Amino acid sequence: MDYFLIDGGAKLAGSVTIGGAKNAALPIMAASILTEGETVLHGVPELADVNHLMQLLGQLGVSCRREADDSLHLRVEDDSQCHAEYDLVRKMRASVCVMGPLLARRRQAQVSMPGGCTIGYRPIDLHLKGMSSLGAEVQLIGGDVHLRADTLRGAEIFLGGPFGSTVTGTANVMMAAALAKGTTVVESAACEPEIADLAEFLNACGARIRGHGSPKLVIEGVERLKGCRYTIIPDRIEAGTFMMAAAITDGELRLVNGRMDHLLAVVEVLRHCGVSVERDGDTVVAAAGRKLMPATVATQPYPGYPTDLQAQLMALLSRAAGNSVITEKIFPDRFLHVAELNRMGARLRKEGATVIVEGVAQLIGAPVMASDLRASAAMVLAGLAAKGQTRVSRVYHIDRGYEQIEAKLAAVGAAIRRLSE
Ligand code: EPZ
Repeated sequence: MDYFLIDGGAKLAGSVTIGGAKNAALPIMAASILTEGETVLHGVPELADVNHLMQLLGQLGVSCRREADDSLHLRVEDDSQCHAEYDLVRKMRASVCVMGPLLARRRQAQVSMPGGCTIGYRPIDLHLKGMSSLGAEVQLIGGDVHLRADTLRGAEIFLGGPFGSTVTGTANVMMAAALAKGTTVVESAACEPEIADLAEFLNACGARIRGHGSPKLVIEGVERLKGCRYTIIPDRIEAGTFMMAAAITDGELRLVNGRMDHLLAVVEVLRHCGVSVERDGDTVVAAAGRKLMPATVATQPYPGYPTDLQAQLMALLSRAAGNSVITEKIFPDRFLHVAELNRMGARLRKEGATVIVEGVAQLIGAPVMASDLRASAAMVLAGLAAKGQTRVSRVYHIDRGYEQIEAKLAAVGAAIRRLSE
C-alpha cells in the first residue's frame, strides 16, 4: 500500500495545471448510457474513481476507451444490462449516477443501495423520490433498489432535503427527465458548477434543459440523445486545495486552468485570512500574506463554502494567528481529520458539528492515517507546513480525487515522495 513521506518547510512556488473536475466527469460519463452513437470527452482526469466508473459502465454494456490524446471515448454497445452491482457501488457512491440514465433509456434499473460512508450518513431518499415522481415503481429488495417504468412522465419535483439540495440527486433526476414525456420542473435543485456542466453536456447531445446553475430547473423531455464531443470543466476543489497549499507554505502558486468564478466563497474566506488571490487571464495566482488571520466559516450548498474544502481549510487555519470556528452543515460528522491534525500539534476542539481551531505557530511532522479523500488532502497540506517529517498512510484515498498530487507538488518545490509498504 502506498504512503507519502513529506519533509515540511518548503515555500511552494511555480505553476500547477488544474485538471478536469471529478464530480462533473462522473455524472457526464454515466449520462453516456442515455446516448446513441459515440461520446468523446476531453479533460476526464486519471483517477481511481474514474476507473471504477469505467468498469461499471463496461458491465452495463458501454465501451470506454482512452485514446493517446487522453480523450475518453464512450459508446453503448449492449443495452440489455440494468444491474449496478454491490461490489462496484460500495467502492464508489457516485455509481448511483447510473440510476436515472438506466431507468430513462432501458426502462429499468437495479442499483445496490450505497452502504456506510466515512464522511457520514448519506441516504438516497431524494434520488428515489425524484424517480417515483417521474412515474417509476421503486422497490428495495435484498439491499438493491429495483426501479421500473414503461414510460417516464414529466413532473414538478421539490428536491430539497434536511441539509439543502442534493448534487447527485439533481443529476439523476435531470438525466431521467431528459428522455421523459413532457416537462419536468425541479425546485431546490443543486446549483453546483458540476451540475451546470452536466446540463450543458446533455444539451449538446440534444436535450432541452434550462435554469441549470439556479435552484429551478426546467427539463423538456426529448425522444433521443446523440453522443457528442465535450470538454469537462476544471476541478474547483483541486484548485482550492492548491490555493491553500500556497497559503500554508507561505508560498505563491499560479493555477493554470483554474476557474476563480467557481470558487467565490472560498476566495472570499482566503482574502479575509490575508491570502492574496488574483485572476490573471485563465490563471489564478494565490499567494500567502504576511500574517494568516483566523476566520469563522460554515459549509453550505453552492454557491456557499464547499464541504469538500472544509478539511483543507481546517489544516490552513490551524496555523492562523487566533481562533477560528468551522461548522459543517452538509455532512455534520465529516471530521475524521480532526484527530489526525491534532497528532501534528494542531489545537482543534470538536463540539457537535463545529470545530474550534486555536491557531498554533508551528505544526510538527508525525505519522498520520488518511480516512477519506478530502481529509487526506488536509494531511498533505499540514505535512507541507510542518516541522520535520510526516508520513501519510492509505493514500489510495487521495488517488480517488487528485491526479498525481505528489508530482504536481514536487514540481513547485515540495519535498514529497510516494513510497510503497
Ligand atoms: C456530492 O455528493 C459530491 N460527490 C461530494 O463530493 C460532495 O461532498 C457533495 O456532493 C456535497 O457537495 C460527487 O459529486 C460525486 P449530496 P452527493 O447528495 O451528491 C443529504 C468529494 O469529496 N441527502 O449533495 O452524494 C446528504 O446526506 C465528494 O469529491 C439526503 O438527505 O451529496 C448530505 O447531508 C465527497 N438525501 C446532503 O444531502 C438524499 O437523497 C448533501 O448530499 C441525498 C442527499
